[in-house]
Amino acid sequence: MKAIILVAGATGDLGGRIVHALLERGAVVRALVRPASDSEKVEKLAKAGAQIVKVNEWNVAELSVACQGVACVVSALQGLHDVIVGAQSALADAAVGSGVPRFIPSDFASDLTQVAPGENRNFDLRREFHKYLDKCPIQTTSVLNGAFAELLQYNIPFLNFKAKTVAYWGSVYHKVDFTTKDNTAAFTAAAALDPTAPGILRIAGFQISATEMAAMASEILHTTFTITNMGSCADLSAFNKRERAAHPEGENEVFPGWQRSQYTHSMFSTRLEPLDNSRYPGIHWTGLRELLTAR
Ligand SMILES: NC(=O)c1ccc[n+]([C@@H]2O[C@H](COP(=O)([O-])OP(=O)(O)OC[C@H]3O[C@@H](n4cnc5c(N)ncnc54)[C@H](OP(=O)(O)O)[C@@H]3O)[C@@H](O)[C@H]2O)c1
Repeated sequence: MKAIILVAGATGDLGGRIVHALLERGAVVRALVRPASDSEKVEKLAKAGAQIVKVNEWNVAELSVACQGVACVVSALQGLHDVIVGAQSALADAAVGSGVPRFIPSDFASDLTQVAPGENRNFDLRREFHKYLDKCPIQTTSVLNGAFAELLQYNIPFLNFKAKTVAYWGSVYHKVDFTTKDNTAAFTAAAALDPTAPGILRIAGFQISATEMAAMASEILHTTFTITNMGSCADLSAFNKRERAAHPEGENEVFPGWQRSQYTHSMFSTRLEPLDNSRYPGIHWTGLRELLTAR
């Protein structure tokens, strides 16, 4: 019998990709949607073959109906405390009450186990939910993938096409973890279908230092990228704390400027190892060369 996987956040960017990857692997996919979810996205999920389960209220009673017979709940929700802690806790309660054996929370980040509390607000929310999840009688698997590699296409400090610079904090040799959204989704789908998956799975499509990034970008894009040292990781941490204090309105946004900078801090201060990339065969890991050549 085919495993039934319930995907929360199915209308989202990563969640939609996870739905497609699960369908490709032959799973029966239930996509959780809300009355306010974008109808075009919902229709696309249905056309692809997902069963659409609409919950009017995101409460344990309604979510329990969606959880019946499910082998694993995958959450790709995005939001603040009400979502990452609140909505995910209700989902976990429904899963436990319905006898679902496994839960994959919406982590999909750098190695948040290596980040101190207070350094990254969005990681703090995920850790708070983990504390709740740890008390639930359900097997969990976190997928940690570093930064989405697609971020490199948007002039982030680590690869700025306009300024032709590669900026870094800390060591010029520190390798930053990147994985594309599709690779993250494919691996997550495989993990959802794997009852033996451990508590944490670490993946990276590529890991690259500032020196390597400047050399490769210069070669592929036929122009010279210069390396810029921005200070230490402690400098960046202090900057982030000042920015957060100066912009309290950002507490109500998922990605205020200071949170993006907190994410940059985690990129330069953590490292995913050892990698579990080879756990599931058949995933073609997109590298930086492929990403930049396709640009
Ligand atoms: N590592 C990285 O570089 C990186 C970058 C970006 C994201 N991520 C991670 O990937 C995961 C998914 O992010 P994403 O960018 O794919 O998110 P997204 O596109 O913003 O989608 C968010 C999803 O959450 C649902 N949602 C939001 N609020 C909800 C609520 N109150 N109740 C129920 N559902 C709610 C949305 O449903 P509706 O359509 O109904 O609103 C949507 O399906 C997150 O954990 C995020 O942190 C990682």
